[in-house]
Amino acid sequence: MSSTQMKPLQVGLLGFGTVGKGTWDVLQRNGEEITRRAGRPIRITWIATRTLEKARAGTRGATGVELTADPAVVIAHPDVDIVVEAMGGIEPARTHVLAAIAQGKHVVTANKALLALHGNEIFAAAHARGVMVAFEAAVAGGIPIIKALREGLSANRIEWIAGIINGTSNFILSEMRARGASFETVLKEAQSLGYAEADPTFDVEGIDAAHKLTIMASIAFGVPMQFDRAYAEGISHLTREDIRYAEEFGYRIKLLGITRRTPAGIELRVHPTLIPTRRLIANVEGAMNAVLVKGDAVGATLHYGPGAGAEPTASAVIADLVDVTRMHTADPEQRVPHLAFQPDRLSDVPFLPLGETTTSYYLRLRVEDRPGVVADITRILADRGISIAAMIQKEPRAGEPQADILLLTHRTQEKHVVAALAAIEALPTVAGSVVRIRLEELS
Ligand code: NAP
Ligand code: HSE
Repeated sequence: MSSTQMKPLQVGLLGFGTVGKGTWDVLQRNGEEITRRAGRPIRITWIATRTLEKARAGTRGATGVELTADPAVVIAHPDVDIVVEAMGGIEPARTHVLAAIAQGKHVVTANKALLALHGNEIFAAAHARGVMVAFEAAVAGGIPIIKALREGLSANRIEWIAGIINGTSNFILSEMRARGASFETVLKEAQSLGYAEADPTFDVEGIDAAHKLTIMASIAFGVPMQFDRAYAEGISHLTREDIRYAEEFGYRIKLLGITRRTPAGIELRVHPTLIPTRRLIANVEGAMNAVLVKGDAVGATLHYGPGAGAEPTASAVIADLVDVTRMHTADPEQRVPHLAFQPDRLSDVPFLPLGETTTSYYLRLRVEDRPGVVADITRILADRGISIAAMIQKEPRAGEPQADILLLTHRTQEKHVVAALAAIEALPTVAGSVVRIRLEELS
């Protein structure tokens, strides 16, 4: 029997927004090619969504697809083999995903928030029921980074991952730097392009990136998902001044998700980061994402592509549909484990508190321009073992008694920097808070 004559695998789609509609469109357009890859046709036969008019308009002219406002109808339908969850949010998405699993349906989801918070529960349920939960679209949009980490790099002991994994914030930083556009203007543009989360503070405060980093760390190091151990700091407090000063030092500021294996535990942190402009990853602009993975055997690999948007994300959702279709009838033991490592071989290596993590720092201080000020500051840093890599004092602006001092440090533990900054800020010659942005050489 040819692949086109085989009974189609039937998909129930929950949500018909950016990702749901994109998935529908790409499956309609590339159906024949996808069938040749999957071995049998993949058809969306049910769509559940809140605003039915949008789904009616988006599927106009198509036959063989039914629309409903009730996801439970889709999940329970005996003909539905796979449920694609493209609704977003925690509830009712979690309930629907668990219901689908309980009814023996495979699940494909783009929902990183759901997995970062409830992935352990969802994967345990799927394992017990012998179904697949696939989630390529949940991390870095169209980049097949889950596939790369889980399969392509499986020979390696992963040492660290550093990624630009939020398209919205990278778009905002790029446009602020290139056009001098305001934060608010660019955020609105990202929302209209379908990049931003329903709650855009998730994008700009580093939470969405922390969800994705949590998922990657689990797969890279074979540990359960622990979103509550992730540190998330966003870009909303960054100033154009610091973006410009960073450029003067030869660095670019990116919102980076970093997870690193150290002898004491695993670092898991998202924050604005200075990276050398000469690194490829520093030149990733707009809504593009890039994930740098350091494995002990392969060295560094860079995975680059569109991190958000309708069809890039659909590309990842459909890749999962193809995988699930191919493995549909396979013995569950033969499938790739959800978190790359066999579920009974996950490790309990701890995640490190932020104070125990190690990185370099960019510091900007506003100080009175008189003798002894720099000596006081450098003494405080030296007393805590913090070594200075570079220092510039800017000319005071006309009519102003204070000058900016910019410092780059060598690598040191966060807790030492926190203590040093408290002491520096207490000096009578230092005005206001010290600006502190972490720095990674990524070498
Ligand atoms: P979206 O455009 O807001 O679409 C969500 C869809 O789900 C809408 O059709 C919405 O209906 C429907 N929906 C929401 N709650 C529902 C409910 N309780 N019952 C029935 N339908 C419901 O969101 P999206 O951008 O496609 O994102 C979907 C998921 O993909 C999220 O988890 C997101 O994080 C993830 N993701 C998004 C992107 C991206 O670039 N957008 C990329 C990767 C991953 P209404 O039309 O009535 O609101
Ligand atoms: N809001 C997310 C972003 C969508 O901007 O990257 C892709 O996960």
